Amino acid sequence: MKQTKIRTLLSSHNTGENVLVKGWVRTKRGNKNIAFIALNDGSTIKNIQVVADVSVFGENLLKEITTGTCLAVTGKLVESQGQGQNVEIAATSIDIYGKCDAETYPLQKKGHSMEFLREIAHLRPRTNTFGAVLRIRHAIAFAIHKYFNDKGFFYLHTPIITGSDAEGAGEMFHVTTLDMGNVPRTETGAVDFSIDFFGKPTNLTVSGQLEGELGALALGEIYTFGPTFRAENSNTPRHLAEFWMIEPEMAFYELNDNMDLAEDFVKYLIRYALDNCHDDLEFLNNMIDKGLLDRLRFVTENEFVRMTYTDAVKILVDSAEKWEYPVGWGKDLQAEHERYLVEKHFKRPLILTDYPKEIKAFYMKMNDDGKTVRAMDVLFPGIGEIIGGSQREENYDKLLQRIREMNLPERIYWWYLETRKFGTAPHSGFGLGFERMIQFVTGMSNIRDVIPFPRTPKNAEF
Ligand code: 4AD
Ligand code: MG
Repeated sequence: MKQTKIRTLLSSHNTGENVLVKGWVRTKRGNKNIAFIALNDGSTIKNIQVVADVSVFGENLLKEITTGTCLAVTGKLVESQGQGQNVEIAATSIDIYGKCDAETYPLQKKGHSMEFLREIAHLRPRTNTFGAVLRIRHAIAFAIHKYFNDKGFFYLHTPIITGSDAEGAGEMFHVTTLDMGNVPRTETGAVDFSIDFFGKPTNLTVSGQLEGELGALALGEIYTFGPTFRAENSNTPRHLAEFWMIEPEMAFYELNDNMDLAEDFVKYLIRYALDNCHDDLEFLNNMIDKGLLDRLRFVTENEFVRMTYTDAVKILVDSAEKWEYPVGWGKDLQAEHERYLVEKHFKRPLILTDYPKEIKAFYMKMNDDGKTVRAMDVLFPGIGEIIGGSQREENYDKLLQRIREMNLPERIYWWYLETRKFGTAPHSGFGLGFERMIQFVTGMSNIRDVIPFPRTPKNAEF
């Protein structure tokens, strides 16, 4: 017999049918005549109830079925007598794939802390919360591809190993096959990368943008969606050393077009989750964050505020708030400032533009004032910065000047600069932090809890 997913069975009206389900026991209760087993196979947050007669299966077999045990159950789908489900399975056979030691299985009791669950990341997908988060994560990933495909964007695979620093911030993990215990040196004592695998220093990418721009200047509209790596020592609820980023890049878009796309895109993703992840969102709304569903609907239904960095700094300077980090024109905004603007002042998502050039990356297009660049950050309630993007500097001389002013290694960017010589075009793009988006959609307060296996400073277990 073919296995049926529990998700399918729970919406089935074919009572009387013989079915086969496979999954893991969540709970077992009962008396000396009958056992009720709640079985979950990951296809949905809901369990199916398996009803087993002690007289048929014997006490010994049923005793072995404890929380966490993996089972295959065949039986008849029947209307449920109990509350909470329409159908249940009257078992005719039960096979145990894997017993689960009740003494040592860590997922016995309800209500484990998120911190504890991080230590057992190999098992936490079996909890309701992480099952919900991982299913929503999948749904959003799918929606991202659907959104761009429907719009005629092309998915471009940008490299993970690169020789350049896309953000110019120097926060890279090196990639090497050199023997760390015996590093080869040149005559001057420098590391001799000429004998390294690629014959030069390489690193894990911090962003696919630079290569994304090359794609946009040929295919028109592209997007990347891949892992990115940052060796910044930030131990915050919003930073990972390995995270996923979606980076659309579009020829002929100016900053306003870029903002329109960003706003439409994130609203689409939230709407997609509301339309397709009902059970999981409802669970998270009840268990994790009572304001979740209202907040998601609010964001899809309201326009984002758009204003310049300069105007936002005025609001911050004029506010009566006590800041941990100083505010003032030219200083980068910290999470506390971003969240004040979004959560207290405007009470809705905000797109800030035209930041001082000193606090933004070299590739952003210079404004006529010579002081600010055509940057845009999208700020979200509870998250802060969820998107960073800009119109790009398409003028060869101005771009080269910025690279030199910022003391970046000019020769590494030769191919990037050449696009400004050979048929340059106005273009723009942005990067959406996938995990920050999942945090917003799920209401999870720590970014470590929206990725299956988080990578953070001093932590690469699993
Ligand atoms: O603002 P960022 O650094 O922008 C870029 O990388 C550009 N190349 C994007 C582009 O224009 N194509 O990063 C973009 C987003 C941030 O807004 C944030 O959501 C997320 O990536 N992000 C992180 N997410 C988790 N952990 C980290 N350490 C992150 N750093 C950035
Ligand atoms: Mg940024």
